[in-house]
Amino acid sequence: MGKTTTATLLEMKRQGEKITVLTAYDWATAKLLDEAGVDVLLVGDSLGMVMLGLENTLSVTMEDMLHHCRAVARGAQRAMLVGDMPFMSYQVSPEQALVNAGRFLQEAGMHAVKVEGGREILPAVRKMTQNGIPVLGHVGLTPQHVHQLGGFKVQGRTDAAAQRIQEDAVALEEAGAFGLVLECVPAPLARTISDQLAIPTIGIGAGPDCDGQVLVFHDVVGLYDRFTPKFVKKYAQVGTVMRDAVREYVQEVKAGTFPGEEHVFK
Ligand code: KIV
Repeated sequence: MGKTTTATLLEMKRQGEKITVLTAYDWATAKLLDEAGVDVLLVGDSLGMVMLGLENTLSVTMEDMLHHCRAVARGAQRAMLVGDMPFMSYQVSPEQALVNAGRFLQEAGMHAVKVEGGREILPAVRKMTQNGIPVLGHVGLTPQHVHQLGGFKVQGRTDAAAQRIQEDAVALEEAGAFGLVLECVPAPLARTISDQLAIPTIGIGAGPDCDGQVLVFHDVVGLYDRFTPKFVKKYAQVGTVMRDAVREYVQEVKAGTFPGEEHVFK
């Protein structure tokens, strides 16, 4: 199988083949997800919450992102790699957005960047796409606006709010975005947008009719227990497996049964 590119994703949408996206933040996990056949690895700023223990994503920095992106780039062979631009790295000016986006590609091995927002960030999106940087949009629940939105809540429930999200989606496509994350919006709205756009939509809490799905890796394997949104399916309880393994290690060291004969140099 060849490397996944923006062209691959567009073709997958045309063919009706669903696109799989998961977050990854480190070398070992990136390698594992790549080997398992995930199409796109997103180094999400969610790393602030699931890797760094922060309350939200707002204090994640460019340096945090680049550090984790470099590790992921070393682990993946086939998947397309998308780096999430952190809060205030693209909102101040299109020029600053371009400089920061360039760092994801030049210094951290990413193939594309993701930005949150609608019409207010179109100049930045245009600046990046016109200069050869693939951009993945993100509308609906945009976690970098958590304080303005009043929490992590479903968006687009009223006709006016749904229309705003739909118009933002179209505007982002026109600005050159190669795809669009739809987070926490009613499934019928996600379906309408997915039908309307030529570029692929990637849903998270947006129902089954998006062109692909994305989840946070730690949610999927049961490694993050602070909060589990309704849209998450836990495919494993890795946190429990890890805690049990470590408890056993602690017991064996205390009891003097580890290291055993087989672990000792003679
Ligand atoms: O930061 C992130 O991981 C994301 C995805 C959940 C879409 O934005």
